[in-house]
Amino acid sequence: MSEVVSVSGVAPAGYRLRIPGPTYVPERIFQATVQPILNHRGPEFRAKLAHTEQMLQPVFGTSNRILFFATSGSGMMEAALVNVATPGSALLVIAHGQFGERFASIGQAIGAQVDTLAVPWGEDIDIDAVEARLHEKDYRAVVAVHNESSTGIVADLARLGALVRNRPTLLVVDSVSGLGGIEMKQDEWGVDIVVSASQKSFMCPPGLGMASVSAKAWAAISGDDRMPSFYWDFRRTLASMEKGETPFTPAITVVAGLHEALEMMHAEGMPNVLARHRRMAAALRAGGAALGLPDFSQGAHKSSTVVCFKIQEGVDGTAVIRELYQRHRTVIAGARNRFQGKIIRIGTMGAIDADTILTDLAQLEEVLPSVGYTITPGAALAAARDSLAHAN
Ligand SMILES: Cc1ncc(COP(=O)(O)O)c(C=O)c1O
Repeated sequence: MSEVVSVSGVAPAGYRLRIPGPTYVPERIFQATVQPILNHRGPEFRAKLAHTEQMLQPVFGTSNRILFFATSGSGMMEAALVNVATPGSALLVIAHGQFGERFASIGQAIGAQVDTLAVPWGEDIDIDAVEARLHEKDYRAVVAVHNESSTGIVADLARLGALVRNRPTLLVVDSVSGLGGIEMKQDEWGVDIVVSASQKSFMCPPGLGMASVSAKAWAAISGDDRMPSFYWDFRRTLASMEKGETPFTPAITVVAGLHEALEMMHAEGMPNVLARHRRMAAALRAGGAALGLPDFSQGAHKSSTVVCFKIQEGVDGTAVIRELYQRHRTVIAGARNRFQGKIIRIGTMGAIDADTILTDLAQLEEVLPSVGYTITPGAALAAARDSLAHAN
């Protein structure tokens, strides 16, 4: 990850954006976003949109049309639920972290009936518990977060998909922080709606939302018993996509950036992109453990796009974040929830390589003693290098 040079004082020299999204935008993608604005109904933009959709489909693991919206990830979460929910049906929202809780709040805000299956944060989703709930009630949809950015745990979508495959129930998934960095096989796994956004593993500025909708979901959401919506109505977006455009003005510059990002991702090869994310997350975890930063994610399904570290008793995690910024201009995240001060989170998504991770660890090694940690100098980098050397 190259260093950012200050532009008109926006960011200090050496600023390193290491939060779990938005992520650092590589120069090549950045340049693609600062080209002249195209007519969004003209031939140049139509060609870009069509090719972007074509390059996105293998990343989603789908042959579905991709729907584009000018919005953030939360907008796409609302879009998914407002299309799926009906006045008389219930949604089963799996909450294995903050974004699952947000999904439940969005469902309630739009007037849907929401049942929540709460999973202890940092643990895997108990798929048997989900199945038991499906036996108790006919749910319109099971709603889950693919990659819980607040806990570093990934949902087993293959198993969740298998649960709904032979039921009318739909599987709706937020892959805002997963897609592009963690495997997604939407069609094979039977995921009915996947929503995502531009600013995480896709290395783009924020502002572009995406959705992919299965044939089963189209059949279910095309009836009259829908929640009221206009902008988010997937049917309108699909009708426009069939004509090669979006119904409303899209985030033109972000589409251009995403097009460039996908060119880069496919040149690297998607299996290699996913393997690189796995290697970098594993190296960061190994280095963190050597520094006395245990993984907050206790489950087996650990994220490749975010690493959450537990902070030792008696130390305020916000001090680690503050010191990293003040000494190194490196920006990592804490928690904006019940774990505030107790965990720190670092993105391992997008344009990251071994140098990025080794720099993170070298800086943590320098900062941690100042907030009360006792560390063994060199141990973190050695552990990370060992992890990188042995990763496949
Ligand atoms: C898993 C997940 N879902 C949804 C969101 C919300 O996205 P946005 O902040 O773009 O609305 C985030 C953002 O961090 C996320 O990590």
